[in-house]
Amino acid sequence: MLEQFKKEVIEGLSKITQKTLPSKYFYDKKGDGLFVKITRLPEYYLTRAEMEIFQEKTSEIMAALELDNGKKYSVVELGAGDGSKTVHLLRELIKRNYDFEYLPVDISSNALDGIKNFLSTELPTLVVKPSHNEYFKALENLKQDGTIKIILFLGSNIGNLMDDQATEFIYQLGSSLYKGDKIILGVDLKKAKEIILPAYDDNQGITAEFNLNLLDRINKELGSDFIRANFIHAPVYDEEEGIAKSYIKSLVKQSVILENHEFNFEKDELIHTEVSRKYDDQVVKQILSRTDITWEHKITDDNNLFADYILQRN
Ligand code: AVI
Repeated sequence: MLEQFKKEVIEGLSKITQKTLPSKYFYDKKGDGLFVKITRLPEYYLTRAEMEIFQEKTSEIMAALELDNGKKYSVVELGAGDGSKTVHLLRELIKRNYDFEYLPVDISSNALDGIKNFLSTELPTLVVKPSHNEYFKALENLKQDGTIKIILFLGSNIGNLMDDQATEFIYQLGSSLYKGDKIILGVDLKKAKEIILPAYDDNQGITAEFNLNLLDRINKELGSDFIRANFIHAPVYDEEEGIAKSYIKSLVKQSVILENHEFNFEKDELIHTEVSRKYDDQVVKQILSRTDITWEHKITDDNNLFADYILQRN
C-alpha cells in the first residue's frame, strides 16, 4: 500500500510537461473529515441536490426501477457514504414490502461501521451486510447469489475519473452484473462557471485544506519535505470542456526531496491533483456507448443541478 503510494507520487512528480498527484490519496483520516465538511459547505451544492432527489423524488426512483414483489433484490452501494441519502430509498423499499438486503461496500471499515449503526436506529428491520472490500471483488462474490442487483454509485464519484477510465469502470460493472440488473448513477451536471467554481474554491478554505492535505500526507507517510506555506490551492473550471480541475500551485521556485529523488518546481508551476467531471446526456451516452449498460431514466433535482441516471444491464 505504502509502496504503491510512493511509486505513484514519484511517477506523478517526475512528469515533464505536467506534474500530477492522484486524488484517491486525498482520503486519509484527515481528508475523510475534510470531505464531510465540504459536503456541508454552502458552495458545495452537489450533496444537497442529490439528497433532494432521494428525499423528494423517491417515488420517481421507485417507478424507474420497475421492481417486482415476487423477486429478491440486493441493493449494493459502492462507497458506503453516511447513508443519509440511501435511507430514503431503503425506507420506501421496506414500506412497499420488497424482499431485499442492503450491502454497502467500502474499503474503509470506519465508514461501514458508521452506516451500520445509523441504519440500525433508522430502519431496525433492515438486513445490512457490509462488505469491507474493493468494489469489483465484492461484486464478484455476489454475482452468483441469485438476487437481482440494484447498484448505487452516488455523489458524482464517477466524476473523479477521466472519461476513458469511467467507461472502463462502467464496462467492468456490466461484467459483474446480469441482464436486468439496475444501476443508479449520481452525477453532477454541467452548468455555469459561477456555480461550479465556488464549489471547489469555498470561502472558508476547506477545499484548499483538502487539496493541500495531500502534501502533508506525503510528508508524513513518505518522509518528503514539502513546505505547505509555499503552495496554494488553484482550481479551474472550463465550461466548454465541463471538467473542474484542482491544482496545487508552487508560489516560489523550490525543490522537494523524497528519498533519493529531488523534484524541482518553478514559481507558479502547477501540480494537477483532481478532475471533477460535469455531465450532460451526451457525455453519459458517450460513456455508456462502449458498454453493455443502457440508460432508462434520468431524475434531477428541481434546480437541475444534479442527476441520478437509472441504468440497466442488457
Ligand atoms: C468525491 N468527489 C465526487 C468530490 C468532487 O466533487 O469531485 C471530491 C471533491 N473534491 C473537491 N471537493 C470535493
